[in-house]
Amino acid sequence: MNRVEGRDKVTGRARYAFEYPAEDVAYVHPVQAPVTRGRILSVDATDALATPGVLAVLSCAEPPALGSREDAELALFQSDQVAYRGQLVAAVVARTPETAREAAEHGVRIGYDAEPHDVLLRADHPGLYTPEKVNPGMPAETRRGDVEAGFAEAAVTVDATYTTPTLHNNPMEPHATMAVWEENGDLTLYDSTQGAADDRDTIAEVLGLPPERVRVVAPHVGGGFGSKGTTRPNAILAALAARAAGRPVKLALTRQQMYDLTGYRTPTIQRVRLGADAEGRLTAISHEAVEQSSTLMEFAEQTASPTRVMYAAPNRRTTHRLVRLDVPTPSWMRAPGECPGMFALESAMDELAVAAGIDPIELRIRNEPDVDPENDLPFSSRNLVACLREGARRFGWEGRDPRPGIRLDGRWLIGTGVAASTYPARRMASTADATVEDGDFVIRIAAADIGTGARTVLTRIAAETLGTAPERVRVEVGDSALPRASLAGGSMGTASWGSAVVRACEALLKNGERGTADTTEDVEGDTGFSRHAFGAQFAEVRVDLDTGEVRVPRLLGVFAAGRILEPKLARSQFVGGMTMGMGMALMEQTIVDERDGGFLNHDLAQYHVAACADVQDIDAVWIEEEDPHLNPMGAKGIGEIGIVGTAAAVANAVHHATGRRVRDLPITPPKLV
Ligand code: MOS
Repeated sequence: MNRVEGRDKVTGRARYAFEYPAEDVAYVHPVQAPVTRGRILSVDATDALATPGVLAVLSCAEPPALGSREDAELALFQSDQVAYRGQLVAAVVARTPETAREAAEHGVRIGYDAEPHDVLLRADHPGLYTPEKVNPGMPAETRRGDVEAGFAEAAVTVDATYTTPTLHNNPMEPHATMAVWEENGDLTLYDSTQGAADDRDTIAEVLGLPPERVRVVAPHVGGGFGSKGTTRPNAILAALAARAAGRPVKLALTRQQMYDLTGYRTPTIQRVRLGADAEGRLTAISHEAVEQSSTLMEFAEQTASPTRVMYAAPNRRTTHRLVRLDVPTPSWMRAPGECPGMFALESAMDELAVAAGIDPIELRIRNEPDVDPENDLPFSSRNLVACLREGARRFGWEGRDPRPGIRLDGRWLIGTGVAASTYPARRMASTADATVEDGDFVIRIAAADIGTGARTVLTRIAAETLGTAPERVRVEVGDSALPRASLAGGSMGTASWGSAVVRACEALLKNGERGTADTTEDVEGDTGFSRHAFGAQFAEVRVDLDTGEVRVPRLLGVFAAGRILEPKLARSQFVGGMTMGMGMALMEQTIVDERDGGFLNHDLAQYHVAACADVQDIDAVWIEEEDPHLNPMGAKGIGEIGIVGTAAAVANAVHHATGRRVRDLPITPPKLV
């Protein structure tokens, strides 16, 4: 299927948050802290308030009333403390965006008492501690057997430290909101969000309103990657500004503001130790992750979590340690945990293959576990080996000369690399409603289409269940007024919403006119199996001998992710994730300025994401996988697995090409010359 809203998108009819019309609308512009840690001593908004067209100024001088301050990133203007550079400290509401910006930049004078700050993550930071849990509620540490004994008995060992930098999501649509207070005191927000229902609940709680008085509308969302998975300050700011100005208020964060206000992927420092016998069978695995959070809140990324499911080894350990720095709170970015964690683990596996003189595909196959190696549950399905074999066949792996740095074409060194991918296959409870209206089927569910094609795949799922053509099904998503559904996150959208849509359609078939479904009980029954998708990624790189420039002429992903429901959409998800993973390998990094504590390269001119010219031959294919233990569709999530393992595949190929092992991402030219 083509995307059902594709025509609306390319003709500009699809409306995004900032584009909704409203009478007498005003605009708000944030004022951000220029200090990294300290206290606000004074706020003088005289000049801003004297500017023609300015309607209101918000700041901690007059803290707006809130219902909850629990989420410190959303408790706007409640405190005189500055926790990071770029934090929201005030805002100006005006009749035009230009006036708001001018008055925010020049009309609000804030006095600060700045204190020394600490923004750099270090493995020996004295503030490191072990969090109680890591996201999403997993243990921070796991242990089995005796890791030191496992290393002592190993014939081959690897002990290496890998780092990944701060990374930022860059969805094409910025975080944008229009807030409208209705005459009866209800609030409607047009907000760019990955989950209208959760967003509505959070906003209602922060503002102290019952959830039924708040409605979030978001039928089209221009990407999120996790940054719109939880409510961001723009939504609260728009609501407070609209209340203060007594009229609708619009806000679209600038790209530079997004870097401070919409979350980022924590930098990581990861030590991986592997021990293996002479045949390459792992005797011990240890993965220790060091990462950061803010002084405001604990966000503990599950960096070492994929190591818990990947390979068999009797002795194993994973740990996470955090330090609270004077930085914005990290947040979700595509495959949080799995993505940086698998860069480290899959690089280390390649190092082990080299050290043991075993082909890296063969090494992985030899360490394939029979059951989940940490909880002993059977896998609902696991086809990593099939992915590796199919990828090897398609990519032309056979006969590969493992010696590094010996293939030269003109001034280009050539190499190939492989890495595995994995991502959990979970789902969340959702509700859906199916009716017949004017002879067509209408499905209503507060799902989110953030560019993934959710609306389209749900149309297909409904049509298949109803035994009708997709043209006869209309799916309404992206509105908290629709039946409650989980957010688009954790690659759980299709599995969660699809389950509810199937059940609602089944109920409709039974009842004739209308069917409703709530999958809470189904989801609670999801126990007894370890559920994960797997994949294998193959990269060919060419490295310029003189400049160290890395090109990726070929990237192939082979995935085993349950039943693939809609090939065109699935391929886009895989290839999109892999493209982002290639960017992570070669270019993406947010540089923190140690002196002033801010993000230095906070726009698309200086923060490089992979662009069309960087992409050559990227392809994704899949293995048809039957898995009856997942959901009515037999589908695993596919939104995130594409970015998992890509960076390691590229780094491993760079090693094969050059003999250089780059353990610190991104692999920029200076690291190779
Ligand atoms: Mo995604 S980082 O689970 O929204």
